[in-house]
Amino acid sequence: MMLFDGYEIKGNKIKNRIVMPPMVTFMLAKEDGYVTDKHVSYYEKRAKSEIGTIIVEAAATDKSQRPFYQLGIWDDKFVEGLSKIAKVINDNDCFSVIQLHNPGVRAAGKLSEHPYGASAHPDYEGSREVKKEELIKVKEYFVNAALRAKKAGFKAVELHGAHGYLLCEFTAPNYNKRTDEYGGSLENRFRFPIEVIKAVREAVGEDMPIYYRYGPCVPDIESGIKGAKMLIEAGVDVLDISYANKEDVTLKTDNPDFNYSVYSAKLIKEAVDVPVIAVNMISTPERAEYLLKNNYADFTAIGRELIADYQWAYKAKNDIPINYCYHCKPKCHMNRGDYKCPNLIKADETLY
Ligand SMILES: Cc1cc2nc3c(=O)[nH]c(=O)nc-3n(C[C@H](O)[C@H](O)[C@H](O)COP(=O)(O)O)c2cc1C
Repeated sequence: MMLFDGYEIKGNKIKNRIVMPPMVTFMLAKEDGYVTDKHVSYYEKRAKSEIGTIIVEAAATDKSQRPFYQLGIWDDKFVEGLSKIAKVINDNDCFSVIQLHNPGVRAAGKLSEHPYGASAHPDYEGSREVKKEELIKVKEYFVNAALRAKKAGFKAVELHGAHGYLLCEFTAPNYNKRTDEYGGSLENRFRFPIEVIKAVREAVGEDMPIYYRYGPCVPDIESGIKGAKMLIEAGVDVLDISYANKEDVTLKTDNPDFNYSVYSAKLIKEAVDVPVIAVNMISTPERAEYLLKNNYADFTAIGRELIADYQWAYKAKNDIPINYCYHCKPKCHMNRGDYKCPNLIKADETLY
């Protein structure tokens, strides 16, 4: 199967095309943001089970900008814990990446009463426009986080530029209402993400791959393709294609081969020459194989399925039946609060 073909990125040999996309383990992180033993065993179990790449969940680059409890990477004190996660991934011949996160206005809530974003947004109480002078600091948070990731042993970093979070807010005209050089035209809207990419590249060096999670409909796929080329020009090595904002889902296709997200990946893949990851409801190995065989993507990310059955990749390789995700809730929050994954209950398994 092509799913188990290797791939090389900047001299790093990646054993197959299966990616575990970033997924916040809501029940595991505490307010302090430290890595727990449960985080380590959660990633170890999956790394041991034939996944080619694990992109560790969104880690907070700025303590004051958090929508929920999540892993922290805003301080050097986190390096020790993060290095335990990197180690269990690396030791199992799995490519380790960690996602660097600033949620922008979406941080609004009890941890961040006055979150900053590209612009203030009426849906996010207390939100405000980040000042031009502050952007230097925000960029530095990403740079320092990337350096910590490298120190912890991660082989690559991913910048979170999708799902309506800060970098995505800049690129999306329905969120970015700025009148300075960071708002307005496509070039202006991409200016801040590009500054971040260039600064991270300068800090981590040429050899460390930079992934970028990207929602390309900003506001339409044509602009998104132009933007993707600018991100690559700035230093991005891998595009991990998801969505921008739920409100931005303007891309329609009648082709039953694709949902919105996978279709976006296909169109980006046609337009760029860096590896592209497709995600969303790629539930079966056959579906993943189909997308790869047709050259719609270079990697397939398997999200909720790897919560429901951490051995998805191992079972795909060995032709063993997989316990597929029930999609019992439209928004799986992975054992958050009193909600437990029915698949794990059935298998008498814990998440970690
Ligand atoms: C519990 C959970 C947490 C998630 N956390 C993140 C995250 O930290 N960063 C991110 O970019 N996407 C996050 N996502 C989105 C997933 O990476 C993925 O794109 C989405 O689940 C669709 O893929 P799937 O259909 O294979 O699950 C999360 C999804 C879930 C279910």
